[in-house]
Amino acid sequence: MYESMEIKLDESLPPEPVFRQGIRRAPKRELNLSRKEIELALRNALRYIPTGLHDRLGPEFLQELLTMGRIYGYRYRPQGEIKGKPIDQYKGKCIEGKAFQVMIDNNLDFEVALYPYELVTYGETGQVCQNWMQYRLIKRYLEELTDEQTLVVMSGHPLGLFKSSNSSPRVIITNALMVGMFDNQEQWIKAQALGVANYGQMTAGGWMYIGPQGIVHGTFNTILNAGRLKLGIADDGDLRGHLFVSSGLGGMSGAQGKAVKIAGGVGIIAEVDRSRIKTRLEQGWIDEVVEKPGRAFELAGRKIRNNESHAIAFHGNIVDLLEFAVEKGLNIELLSDQTSCHAPYDGGYCPQGLSFEERTELLRTDKRKFREAVDKSLIKHFEYIRQLVERGTYFFDYGNSFMKAVFDAGANEIAKNGVDTSEGFIFPSYVEDIMGPMLFDFGYGPFRWVCLSGRKEDLLKTDAAAMRCIDPERRGQDRDNYIWIKDADKNKLVVGTQARILYQDATGRRDIALKFNEMVRNGEIGPVMIGRDHHDTGGTDSPFRETANIKDGSNVMADMATQCFAGNAARGMSMVSLHNGGGVGIGKAINGGFGLVLDGSRRVDEIIKTSISWDVMSGVARRAWARNENALLVASEFNKEKRRSEQITLPFLVEEEIIRKTMKIVDWE
Ligand SMILES: NC(=O)c1ccc[n+]([C@@H]2O[C@H](COP(=O)([O-])OP(=O)(O)OC[C@H]3O[C@@H](n4cnc5c(N)ncnc54)[C@H](O)[C@@H]3O)[C@@H](O)[C@H]2O)c1
Repeated sequence: MYESMEIKLDESLPPEPVFRQGIRRAPKRELNLSRKEIELALRNALRYIPTGLHDRLGPEFLQELLTMGRIYGYRYRPQGEIKGKPIDQYKGKCIEGKAFQVMIDNNLDFEVALYPYELVTYGETGQVCQNWMQYRLIKRYLEELTDEQTLVVMSGHPLGLFKSSNSSPRVIITNALMVGMFDNQEQWIKAQALGVANYGQMTAGGWMYIGPQGIVHGTFNTILNAGRLKLGIADDGDLRGHLFVSSGLGGMSGAQGKAVKIAGGVGIIAEVDRSRIKTRLEQGWIDEVVEKPGRAFELAGRKIRNNESHAIAFHGNIVDLLEFAVEKGLNIELLSDQTSCHAPYDGGYCPQGLSFEERTELLRTDKRKFREAVDKSLIKHFEYIRQLVERGTYFFDYGNSFMKAVFDAGANEIAKNGVDTSEGFIFPSYVEDIMGPMLFDFGYGPFRWVCLSGRKEDLLKTDAAAMRCIDPERRGQDRDNYIWIKDADKNKLVVGTQARILYQDATGRRDIALKFNEMVRNGEIGPVMIGRDHHDTGGTDSPFRETANIKDGSNVMADMATQCFAGNAARGMSMVSLHNGGGVGIGKAINGGFGLVLDGSRRVDEIIKTSISWDVMSGVARRAWARNENALLVASEFNKEKRRSEQITLPFLVEEEIIRKTMKIVDWE
């Protein structure tokens, strides 16, 4: 039977794993399996391994499960460093097969990934795949993949290569899509420990992560626009002279210092883990580290008075920082939080009173006590925010499930109705107030590209070409994007592969992609992979985040992200992915993304023309149907422009007076 498989792991035993000192390691994950289920988990992991090695690897896998909570198969990790190398250094039978290997390896780079040994790219739990056996197999499959086949990846498991055509996706990925009645935390943890579910986050399991740069642009847009919305900053002004306070210098949150600097303001970012501060300091994304809250505010005050931009890391707990501000009556203009509250009890949130090391130890030794400490801390955290908001601070939830975590910790007052979360929370989420209406409803979202040649000069050429595609006079957003791309190289944003992020709308993304493909065709640059974060106009259904500004009741539905994914597959994107979870946690979002390899061909020109527009406009159409003002504007312009070839259904808007009068017909008493 086994001989029928041509692609499989070798019969020989890989050498003992070696762990390099100083590389961050994932904490032990919760293990809720019974003895019988542990047997099943072992059977499941050993499915990847030729039988001759079972005797040897069974005990090793059991040990991993008991000490780490998961079987990662460390021994199957290739020794040494993993890096996204130039595409021509990979083996493969089609360009896409090689391109995806660049992307996967970049997601596991020591400099890029959060816990590289545990295959976690970002967001505490966001993995490329579940274990190193899957990694090895996926890579082998990608080496064999032809342009007439599709590789199917289910929660990190490569199901196999199946016949398709050269206009089909080369890879289709799904992650964590649980059946509704099992779509809860307990079953989820079980499925992970059994080795049948992968938490893909968004671009970790969707193989499109480009390091924290991806999020710098979004964070820059968010805090700058928060300032415009709440601090009266003019459309062409920046954050000069203003203070932003938050927490987290991890995978995505690490962008905050850099973003506030680019926006011209002063930021204090609390972070409990010194190693993360060190990374950001070495990158130049943080200017200075302080150990005392008083010193942080004193320094910030000085920089604000001098109109200088400055990023300060406070090494300590955000709750201590806010406690200080409340007690001393200090003014914080813009406030947020980016601890990993989508997984607070898995180590994502460090409770006040514990150092980072103590948190890791308690997590390992006493999960119940850890939970209690998290809950207590979250409630205090909320209380300080409430007091600051009463004094004029603008607080927004940064899509990290902070408010949901506070609610789960027992502070019902954070829910709008004080009872449950059905009507949302008392503070806005960044999408509800800022990113939704000001960006997503127009179709602006986190478009990105990777120069697969690995050459810096290619990236510079694409920056210049993208800049030429933007008309800064068109809209305020275009002006911000123009400035962003103009200064992108100067801001030294690249970590890992030669990649760039640029928020763009449907037209902008299409024009840029066509331009790049033409440049590849003319031999000006090597091949390019385009894609986006799932966190986009149409990519994600998430009621507390991406679709938080959808108010027609449909934000409990996941039709948009699913249709977007299916439509992208039908139009021939090179890779499509659909996930449960994302930045807010399992069961709370469905999100999808894509990757398209620009090989310079006319075939790819055609894919760009149909799929990029679909990818963005499907989201705008849904937002327009939900009666979102800016989306209505964009959708009606689209209808006029595309007359007779495409059309979006627009809602007839009813006058409030008619609803009021109609409701009077019934006696509601
Ligand atoms: N940046 C964005 O635009 C964005 C967008 C959506 C969601 N998010 C969400 O933000 C969260 C963070 O993402 P990440 O990739 O940075 O995760 P991460 O786990 O890499 O980083 C979070 C950081 O917070 C620190 N931390 C935890 N508790 C703390 C505390 N009490 N005080 C100070 N520091 C503390 C941790 O040490 C860690 O470094 C996630 O929930 C993610 O989904 C971010």
